[in-house]
Amino acid sequence: MKGLVLAGGSGTRLRPITFSSAKQLVPVANRPILFHALDQLADAGVRQVGVVVGEHGDEVRTAVGDGEAFGLEVTFIRQPRPLGIAHALLTAEEFLDGDDVVLFLGDNLVEGGVTSLVHRFASERPTAQLLVKDVDDPSAFGVAVVRDGVVQRLVEKPAEPPSSSALVGVYLLSHDVLEAARRIAPSLRGELEITDALQRCIDDGGRVQATELSGWWLDTGKKDDVLDANRLLLAELTGRVDGVVDAASRLTGTVVVEPGARVRGSSLHGPVVIGAGTRVTDAVVGPDTSVGERCELVDCEVVDSVVMADSRIDGVGRIEHCLVGRRVTLAAGGGVAHRIVAGDDSFLELRGGS
Ligand code: TTP
Repeated sequence: MKGLVLAGGSGTRLRPITFSSAKQLVPVANRPILFHALDQLADAGVRQVGVVVGEHGDEVRTAVGDGEAFGLEVTFIRQPRPLGIAHALLTAEEFLDGDDVVLFLGDNLVEGGVTSLVHRFASERPTAQLLVKDVDDPSAFGVAVVRDGVVQRLVEKPAEPPSSSALVGVYLLSHDVLEAARRIAPSLRGELEITDALQRCIDDGGRVQATELSGWWLDTGKKDDVLDANRLLLAELTGRVDGVVDAASRLTGTVVVEPGARVRGSSLHGPVVIGAGTRVTDAVVGPDTSVGERCELVDCEVVDSVVMADSRIDGVGRIEHCLVGRRVTLAAGGGVAHRIVAGDDSFLELRGGS
């Protein structure tokens, strides 16, 4: 059994972050989302993992390395264009070499890992083994109609969902699914859909099984999903202070202060993680906040947010529910008006009033 982690895609819903970076590298609790999928594959006993990359492939390669840090042998596979999940599977054909595969969407987080799913697939040998989860609005996902654990029908992002079972982004696939992917046409949105390849398998008499996921699942395609994921993973942290916190600062709840970080005259309300080399001065941080490496937070309050590396927040009052990219400056100016340089597709919600 090999692993295949998809770390390409367009990431349009997470612009402008994804103009310059892969969305799978957005940190939650200060660790790239993608790393969680790699950990879970290693925990399930998978060793050889292909990572499918797109336009931000170099950055993903640098972050993941050869996989040794995860106990994996990682091979990078370049998908020339993001033409769909089934297209990514076909792109990995040579790497897979006819083997079974755990296909993991690199922006998905699944509680509890995939070990039991891998064991079940190995013992029952279906054509495919899927994970499903009941959701309130399945129209944003692949949707499965399941009877007694067997999938009858699959539809991609249906306007009128035939059930409330959304497909979680972890699929265990036999080689038959790759063969079926060869025989499907692009969907209306121009992608080779994995749901169409699986439906083809069902139509050909294959057995596609589905297991209900009991834990949480997050598809971190949008800003609020990233903040949800950050909150959930911060809740699992164990506190430790490896940086320097002065006597005038106050720490409550679970707080991680990484080496080289300096906290002065500030309150950290956990769960919070302060990245290596970051300086926090006269500020209030948390709860539910991750601050990346080498940031500077001065005279501000940052709540329920992810602040990525090398950013500076200074004198701006309270910010909350924010995703702040790398090398961003949010600072108070002397004038009476807001002065902003916002990249394409930026989203700024500023406090109104005179
Ligand atoms: P999606 O989130 O469905 O697609 P996307 O990344 O293009 O995002 P958006 O809809 O915001 O434009 O993709 C799920 C995962 O699969 C994600 O980690 C990206 C990855 N992916 C690929 O690697 N190749 C592809 O061709 C596609 C469509 C997705």
